[in-house]
Amino acid sequence: MEAPIGVIDSGVGGLTVVKELLNRLPNEPIVYIGDDARCPYGPRSTQEVRKFTMEMATALSETGIKMLVIACNTATAVALDEVREHFSFPVIGVIVPGARGAVKASKTGDIAVLGTVGTIKSHAYDDAIHALLPSATVHPLACPDFVPIVESGLYKSENASGIVKKGLAGLVVKDFDVAILGCTHYPLLQNHIQAHLPSDVQIISSAVETVSDVECILVSRNIERDDSRRVAPIFYTTGQTEQFLSIVEDWLAIDKPDVRHIIL
Ligand code: DGL
Repeated sequence: MEAPIGVIDSGVGGLTVVKELLNRLPNEPIVYIGDDARCPYGPRSTQEVRKFTMEMATALSETGIKMLVIACNTATAVALDEVREHFSFPVIGVIVPGARGAVKASKTGDIAVLGTVGTIKSHAYDDAIHALLPSATVHPLACPDFVPIVESGLYKSENASGIVKKGLAGLVVKDFDVAILGCTHYPLLQNHIQAHLPSDVQIISSAVETVSDVECILVSRNIERDDSRRVAPIFYTTGQTEQFLSIVEDWLAIDKPDVRHIIL
């Protein structure tokens, strides 16, 4: 099927899922919306996040997507069910895949979850982890300063390292063996996060497991694209195209990416 896979996020975070999609499913066309103008979603109310998520899903549905990935934990936590009910194409989020990856990787069942205020408050990770491993102990930590540093493009800076160090100081319990990056922006800070966590802690991002779910859906519904000629992804942002473009170039190593402005 020629139609693209839609991917949405509050900003550039969903590009971490796009990176894995491009690696594993290179034939699949992708159309992306980052709502950078209204990012971060983490501190916003449930109603606002639901409304914004529906707006992005509606805009992509009008372009004719074959499935949708909500590549934002905050939006997945509060809007996945509503989006699923509203559209006829398959819709997947990133929380159940992230929880699955962490449960597979953990030997002790002690799992730290780093996320936005909205994701942590929703307890969506606690529920998803305990559904898979009832004996697990979850150590949640909201890191509200991480998304702004990624959106500003300064995720490689010394300043970013200091912000990550300060944010992770809130993790008082240290006896976990796995930490979930429960926000799709955080893989851009992964080097800093790894540097400020105990060295034996394994970091899990939901991208790998999410893309496994995408693949299963494409195969089981027989909606894969057969043509092996690659199609360049299209990126829409509600924010500044220049800033978005430079992060796409850096993170996805795409030369002259197709980045367009969208008003929702
Ligand atoms: N990438 C979004 C997530 O996974 C970032 C949230 C935000 O905008 O605060 O939760």
